[in-house]
Amino acid sequence: MASAMRLEGKIALVTGAGSGIGRATAQLFAVNGAAVVVADINAEGGRETVRRIGDTGDRALFLQADVSRAADVEALVIRSIEEFGRIDILVNNAASWKGDTTITGVSEPVWDAVIDGSLKSVFLMSKAVIGEMLRSGGGSIVNISSVNGIYGVGLTAYSAAKGGVQALTRVVAAEYGTRGIRCNVILPGTIGTDSSLAVWHSKPDALDQIIAAYPMGHIGRPEDVACCALFLASDESAFVTGSSYLVDGGLTAGRNFGF
Ligand SMILES: NC(=O)c1ccc[n+]([C@@H]2O[C@H](COP(=O)([O-])OP(=O)(O)OC[C@H]3O[C@@H](n4cnc5c(N)ncnc54)[C@H](O)[C@@H]3O)[C@@H](O)[C@H]2O)c1
Repeated sequence: MASAMRLEGKIALVTGAGSGIGRATAQLFAVNGAAVVVADINAEGGRETVRRIGDTGDRALFLQADVSRAADVEALVIRSIEEFGRIDILVNNAASWKGDTTITGVSEPVWDAVIDGSLKSVFLMSKAVIGEMLRSGGGSIVNISSVNGIYGVGLTAYSAAKGGVQALTRVVAAEYGTRGIRCNVILPGTIGTDSSLAVWHSKPDALDQIIAAYPMGHIGRPEDVACCALFLASDESAFVTGSSYLVDGGLTAGRNFGF
C-alpha cells in the first residue's frame, strides 16, 4: 500500500526548480516527505522555491548551477551529496528554447545553446547522478520531455532535443535496470507556467487557438506534471522503467471531427 508520505526519507534533486513545473514538482515532493535540492541557474527563483517549501516546514536546499555546464553539474552533485549523503531521485526538468524558431530561421549558435540547455544538460546530470545512485543502491530518474518530441508543432532545436531526451531515457533504463536505477520520461502538452503564458500572451489569439486544439478544452497546470513525476519518483512505480507518459490533455490522441 502507498503511504500518505509517498517519498518519506528520500532525497530528490530537481533541476530548473526555480519556477513552473520544476517548482511545483519540488513542492509536491517535499510535501510527500522528500528532502529536495532545488537546482536552478536563477538564484531568485530557486530561493523563492526553498522559501515556499520551508513555509510548510519541509526540507529544501537551493544550489545555483547551469546544468548545461559540466563543471557546474559536478559541483552541484558534490554539494548535494555533502548535504544529504545520497540522491534517490533526479528530475531533469530544466530546459531552454530561447531564440528557437523554424529550421531555416534558427541560427547555429541558437541551435547549440538550445541543445546544450535541453539535451546535453540531461546527459550531464544523468551521468553525474547515476554514479552516486550506483554507489547508494539505485534510484529513479524522471526526465521532462515535451509533446514536441513526438509531434511537430514548431521549435526546431527544442523539438530535436526533446526527442533526444526520450531516446536517452530508454538507453538509461536498458543499461541500469539490473542495478536498481529506473528512468522514465514525461511528455507534457501546453502547461500554464509563467514563462509559457508570457509567450502565448505575446501573440494575438495564440492561447485561444492552442486551447481549441486540446480535446479536454483547456491547457494543463504545473501540478498535473508534478503528480505524474511523483508517481514515477516513488516506489509505486517500482516495475516501471523506460516508459513515456503523456500529460497532454489528449492533444496527441487525435481530434473529434463530430462524424
Ligand atoms: N510549460 C509548458 O508548456 C511545457 C510544455 C512541455 C514541456 N515543458 C517542459 O517542462 C520543463 C519546465 O518548463 P516550465 O514551463 O516550467 O519552464 P520555466 O521557464 O517556468 O522553468 C524552467 C526553469 O529552468 C531554469 N533553467 C533553464 N535553463 C537552466 C540551466 N541551464 N541550468 C539551470 N536551470 C535552468 C530556469 O531558470 C527556470 O527556473 C521544461 O523541460 C520544458 O521543456 C514545458
